[in-house]
Amino acid sequence: MSEFSGVLEEAKRTAAEAGALLRDYYARSGEVRFKGETNLVTDADTASQDLIHGRLSRAFPGHDFLGEEGLEQLSGSDFRWVIDPLDGTTNFAHRLPVFCVSIALEVRGTLACGVVFNPMSGEMFAAERGGGAFLGERPIRVSEIPDLGRALVATGFPYDLRTSRTNVAQHERFLLGAQAVRRCGSAAIDLCYVACGRFDGFWELKLNPWDTAAGAVIAAEAGGQVTDFQGRPVDIYHPEVLASNGLLHEAMLAVLRAE
Ligand code: IPD
Ligand code: CA
Ligand code: CA
Repeated sequence: MSEFSGVLEEAKRTAAEAGALLRDYYARSGEVRFKGETNLVTDADTASQDLIHGRLSRAFPGHDFLGEEGLEQLSGSDFRWVIDPLDGTTNFAHRLPVFCVSIALEVRGTLACGVVFNPMSGEMFAAERGGGAFLGERPIRVSEIPDLGRALVATGFPYDLRTSRTNVAQHERFLLGAQAVRRCGSAAIDLCYVACGRFDGFWELKLNPWDTAAGAVIAAEAGGQVTDFQGRPVDIYHPEVLASNGLLHEAMLAVLRAE
């Protein structure tokens, strides 16, 4: 048994419980509030975060927590949970069943494990550093597509798109260069889809640590390459993320750099 397997099991149980809670909220129509012009928050986001924080802080007293909905319990512990209690809130609010719970643990600044659970599909993605990546009980691997022209790639657009056009030009270049481009609405799911080979690559340029943390360790453990747009190893506190099957990485970096 590896160092963090017990911790990962607890994170999976917690993600499953939070996912069940999201399903309950999804079944009723709840209040939607606006954090920004297009950035939503629902009661489900906060209830899910409260559940995850409550459960993990009881299981691991003394650990730190960083969560999207204003959760900053940062005492300088070696252990920091990075949580997106509902990734894909816009989908959730529009009743599109593509959203997830994302939970990762950093140990002394290094991602140790991550879990992404989509409660509508029942898919639980999980990985522990050095232990491979899994979809349920099944080990997963990135795709083997070597040419961008044959690749299905994905992106996401930041909430401030109306005021800074950010990746619109990149999007156009990938539309013309790849086989096709998708936009799922959940960065954590996008990264897991790279991990299991449904997508061959994914890029986004204004992500937060909670969007990226779990998906990045899952994609890397599935054999993927996860970097910034300069090709440097991913840093979840840096907003750019490029994940690929490795074979496409240079070609995707070249598309991102071409202005
Ligand atoms: C968003 C989703 C989306 C991405 C945005 C994120 P949220 O997270 O991951 O796919 O394009 O950049 O902010 O707000 O649904 O948790
Ligand atoms: Ca998110
Ligand atoms: Ca969120």
